[in-house]
Amino acid sequence: MIWKVNICLCITFACWLRYLGVGGVGSVTAEMLTRCGIGKLLLFDYDKVELANMNRLFFQPHQAGLSKVEAAEHTLRNINPDVSFETHNYNITTMENFTHFMDRISHGGLEEGKPVDLVLSCVDNFEARMAINQACNELGQIWMESGVSENAVSGHIQLIIPGETACFACAPPLVVAANIDEKTLKREGVCAASLPTTMGVVAGILVQNVLKYLLKFGTVSYYLGYNAMQDFFPTMAMKPNPQCNDRHCRRQQEEYKKKEAERPTVEVVQEEEDVVHEDNEWGIELVSEVTDAELQAASGPVPDLPEGITVAFTIPSEVTDGDTVEETEQSLEELMAQMKKL
Ligand SMILES: *[C@@H]1O[C@H](CO)[C@@H](O)[C@H](O)[C@H]1NC(C)=O
Ligand SMILES: *[C@@H]1O[C@H](CO)[C@@H](O)[C@H](O)[C@H]1NC(C)=O
Ligand SMILES: [Zn+2]
Repeated sequence: MIWKVNICLCITFACWLRYLGVGGVGSVTAEMLTRCGIGKLLLFDYDKVELANMNRLFFQPHQAGLSKVEAAEHTLRNINPDVSFETHNYNITTMENFTHFMDRISHGGLEEGKPVDLVLSCVDNFEARMAINQACNELGQIWMESGVSENAVSGHIQLIIPGETACFACAPPLVVAANIDEKTLKREGVCAASLPTTMGVVAGILVQNVLKYLLKFGTVSYYLGYNAMQDFFPTMAMKPNPQCNDRHCRRQQEEYKKKEAERPTVEVVQEEEDVVHEDNEWGIELVSEVTDAELQAASGPVPDLPEGITVAFTIPSEVTDGDTVEETEQSLEELMAQMKKL
């Protein structure tokens, strides 16, 4: 074993709501971390393996009908018996399960009683994301969020440090802010697209960020998007919203400010600068390498969207002007059919 770190990983592939068809991200993430020799993985999911999901990676047809956590643990144990696993086959958003979930985050560490090192969210719906967000804000637990869009051609990962960077509720998607029941957004009879490629890329950049964060190398990304159509990878960093709806987020922000104020100010002259964290224990900076002007230039026009749907990011005009394929009105199904004909 090269290194031993304790991770609490949430996997969800729920089909009941494919608003964000993340599906394959969590299982692939767990496999990569298992092969890397992570110390302990805690897996949470309430779904069963389905034959209909076989276009995704990891699970196999003979596992159909098994709970995802049970099937995953079996496969992962075979790959690396040195890793310890703890699985929970339940819906983390129900009240009693949520309490148990929080207890496992704060006590399920490699050494029982200690908190986990990192929580990874690979869920496919806002309700579960909000639950993870709430738990982590309350506990001050650092976590990483991941997502794949419904049309399967974009995704993102995000590092959330309660009080220090924006939480999921600080800048909520419209569906959460407007209190829309996300189930009503699911179009009748439409099963969202799902591509193992996009999921593999998102799982890859998620685990890369996890390794960089835990093993302290390179620059850890606060937000990294992936747009498959243009091969565009936007990055940014977001400060928390002082008016965040989550009171624990606001409390964490206050505590963070206090902690920052108490820190001996070594370079008083540099206080004006935004970079305050160069010597934190992770060696990461709060500010992304892009300037505000560059960020502005890196976003394009916001398209007209139906109520309840927001864009994760927009395409800058330089990118679309460049040597790229023409925008097409074709759906993913049509594109796939075309690909088969080639
Ligand atoms: C999980 O629990 C929440 C809260 O009770 C509920 O709204 C949601 O529908 C549940 N999900 C499933 C798949 O049962
Ligand atoms: C999870 O919730 C279900 C139903 O709400 C309950 O039967 C079960 O005991 C809970 N599990 C834990 C570990 O809290
Ligand atoms: Zn917040």
